[in-house]
Amino acid sequence: MMWVAALLGSQLAGKKKLTPTKGFGGGFGDSSSSRSRRSRQSVQSLAPYVRTLPIVIDAMLDLGQVTEDDNVYDLGCGDGRILLAAAQQRGAQGLGVDIDAERVKEANDAARHLGLYPRIQFKQQDLLTLDLSPATIVVLYLLPKSNLQLRQKLQTELSPGARIITHSFDMGDWQPTRTTQVADVINTYNIYVWNV
Ligand SMILES: C[S@@+](CC[C@H](N)C(=O)[O-])C[C@H]1O[C@@H](n2cnc3c(N)ncnc32)[C@H](O)[C@@H]1O
Repeated sequence: MMWVAALLGSQLAGKKKLTPTKGFGGGFGDSSSSRSRRSRQSVQSLAPYVRTLPIVIDAMLDLGQVTEDDNVYDLGCGDGRILLAAAQQRGAQGLGVDIDAERVKEANDAARHLGLYPRIQFKQQDLLTLDLSPATIVVLYLLPKSNLQLRQKLQTELSPGARIITHSFDMGDWQPTRTTQVADVINTYNIYVWNV
């Protein structure tokens, strides 16, 4: 697929300097010295922004058996479309994080517009720093290398019974519990689920 090459090229480009915004990475009330330290920090970009298609989202929610009992964490949420669909279609609650402040604003605006806020919320945060332990489901659409980088964090922080749903890429030699494919007229998309 064309965009895979673009993704890989982008990842090779390395770390991204974040523009610090109010509330990013630690919230209010922190000292000016810690703010200034953080403004010099760079955050690793684990994937460029590419949207998941609605037909793929529907298949992800089906394969992951998402229900109203789930607390869905969408890591690298973009405009929030997967978590918005999980809340709208399945009644789930959850949290989405992304390093891109504009996408996070779009996602929170959509959640408010649809009356889903604060049952679902989005914040600007490096997903590598997020405590995953409250999640019953983690959703990922990153790069193969990024999935592998996250594997140990997922296995350590998630409780038994939690599921991980990925779009397009697997977790190396960690065998998925279920997989499926969906196709449009041009592409075929792989979806994977792991039960922790
Ligand atoms: C392929 S897009 C997926 C967007 C959305 N989840 C979807 O499926 O439509 C990957 C997203 O991950 C975000 N991202 C990359 N590195 C990140 C990091 N370290 N922490 C949080 N988000 C990150 C990007 O900004 C981008 O929006």
